[in-house]
Amino acid sequence: MKLWGGRFRKETDTLANDFQSSILFDCRLYREDIEGSIAHSQMLADCGIISREDQEQIKAGLEGILADIEAGKVEFTTDNEDIHMNVETLLTARIGEAGKRLHTARSRNDQVAVDLRLHLRREIGEITGQILDLQQAIADQAGQHQETVMPGYTHLQRAQPISFAQHLLAYGAQLSRDVTRLEDCKRRMNICPLGSGALAGTTHPIDRWQTAKLLGFDAPCGNSLDGVSDRDYVLELLSDLSILMMHLSRFAEEIILWCSWEFKFIELDDAYSTGSSIMPQKKNPDMAELIRGKTGRVYGDLMGLLATMKGLPLAYNKDLQEDKEAVFDAIDTVKMCLLVFTGMIATMRVLPQNMRKAAGGGFINATDCADYLAKKGRPFRDAYTTVGNLVYYCTENGKLLEELSLAELQNISPLFGEDVYEALSLETCMGQRKSYGGPAMEETTRQIEELIKFIKEYRHG
Ligand code: ARG
Repeated sequence: MKLWGGRFRKETDTLANDFQSSILFDCRLYREDIEGSIAHSQMLADCGIISREDQEQIKAGLEGILADIEAGKVEFTTDNEDIHMNVETLLTARIGEAGKRLHTARSRNDQVAVDLRLHLRREIGEITGQILDLQQAIADQAGQHQETVMPGYTHLQRAQPISFAQHLLAYGAQLSRDVTRLEDCKRRMNICPLGSGALAGTTHPIDRWQTAKLLGFDAPCGNSLDGVSDRDYVLELLSDLSILMMHLSRFAEEIILWCSWEFKFIELDDAYSTGSSIMPQKKNPDMAELIRGKTGRVYGDLMGLLATMKGLPLAYNKDLQEDKEAVFDAIDTVKMCLLVFTGMIATMRVLPQNMRKAAGGGFINATDCADYLAKKGRPFRDAYTTVGNLVYYCTENGKLLEELSLAELQNISPLFGEDVYEALSLETCMGQRKSYGGPAMEETTRQIEELIKFIKEYRHG
């Protein structure tokens, strides 16, 4: 018979039973469910609501169940709907009467809310660690390519010279925000719904501060209806994971471009590439493509739950059970993507000559040419027009700016002198961009140091 079977005279239809059961996916909450129950029973005993002997039996019983689950000795059943009822049923089967007292002053509604918060809190810690690993791989590659000149792009048109380090470190900075966003999410999530009961609290003299403290929460939630209805923390996590995936997807897209023969800026390691079943020459960046593809899936998890939540009246509704598959899927996807991404970045081979060659075309030193004239006193807007004319002249004559003779240059502006050639060299254009946050050596060194400091700080945070 069901734990709630008293009011019923008929068994649940088999199909309906399987349909509404969540044990196949919420079984991954077993640890948190047991942790929550141990804290709850301890509080019940401390408040004199159950006896000390019952509490001790409950604790020992739950610890035994935990050990057996971890040893693979427990089989969950859909007859018991979800992880909460599975554990409670197992407990009562093992310790008898005392097991039946565990659910005093508690409901599955506050139980599932507390389990999920505990679980997501832990997952955030793991995901953060994986992001830091990726940032470390980025810092390592950046350290090797502070002098590797490549074209920086806007509109995917060659724009100004940067270093490959600078490009990588942009992603490093984006990932730092992902880490701090997850931290914020964890902080807001860290409020305890246990003791909200089904929706309206309880008449038992419970101590919600005690359970909150025992479970490492900052405080109990202040409204019992909110406590069992709120899934903001799941949506917030899904939003953070969506933004994180968006960053990985943009990075993946660039890796795919860089691997193409049109760019050939990098070559991925064989271990992170795949071949074609028909075209013998192919080496495809499948990992990067799949990470880009899976981003849509994580967005879908967020959109799905947002849609599920939008019309729900307070307090608990069974619709809320849909939160778990969405967030578990997003977590599994993100963790897999991060692991693969880190390996891919750490092992990729950078091809600096090809980057340098690409940087040589496309007049990416044109801004520097205008800046040269501006530094000689010509108003920048006028200098800009002068160089625009020069670029036109060059395209008509098949030349680069630095290939023009001094006579040709002076024909357009008498301000040009011998030193213009030095000013137009890509190494100068990149190396002299020393403004704070720029691609010059000094600045990428600062960025790498700060990234390493960030990684250290959050590793132990
Ligand atoms: N399995 C349920 C869920 O995931 C637990 C809460 C069930 N509560 C209820 N009143 N049916 O949401």
